[in-house]
Amino acid sequence: MNSKRELYDQLAAQLSSLLAGEGDLIANAANFSSLIFHSLPDLNWAGFYFAKDGELVLGPFQGQPACVRIKVGQGVCGAGAAKCETMIVPDVHEFPGHIACDSASNSEIVVPLMKDSRMIGVLDLDSPLPSRFDEDDAAGLETLVRILLSSVIS
Ligand code: SME
Repeated sequence: MNSKRELYDQLAAQLSSLLAGEGDLIANAANFSSLIFHSLPDLNWAGFYFAKDGELVLGPFQGQPACVRIKVGQGVCGAGAAKCETMIVPDVHEFPGHIACDSASNSEIVVPLMKDSRMIGVLDLDSPLPSRFDEDDAAGLETLVRILLSSVIS
């Protein structure tokens, strides 16, 4: 097992403990953002956008202030939300329609939040490093997102 996978295994255990006994989406998304922002190396932003009336609206996050509303289909977050697929973007400057919230960002990963086959939002991570995110990050973050969604009582 490589160290990145071990890190995600540790984070999955930490997140499960952190969210145990709490069913509020906003509270759990806030603690999720803090945990990963302070545990994963080379991030400058980590947080959530939630789907509301055809738009993504800013949720709990860590990092610089960010754009509040993103249309589904726009930018990396909107593309991930529209396709309901994890998006790994090695160079955000090459991504058509990328929305630059923090000029420090060079690569990005977006993981959709799928609850009962509905897209309820996205997890978004930005890095100042080019090509920061790979398939191990995608798999690890998808596991963490499943832990978050299974904690939520809706
Ligand atoms: N870069 C994102 C916008 C959100 S910020 O990175 C926090 C995008 O293109 O959708």
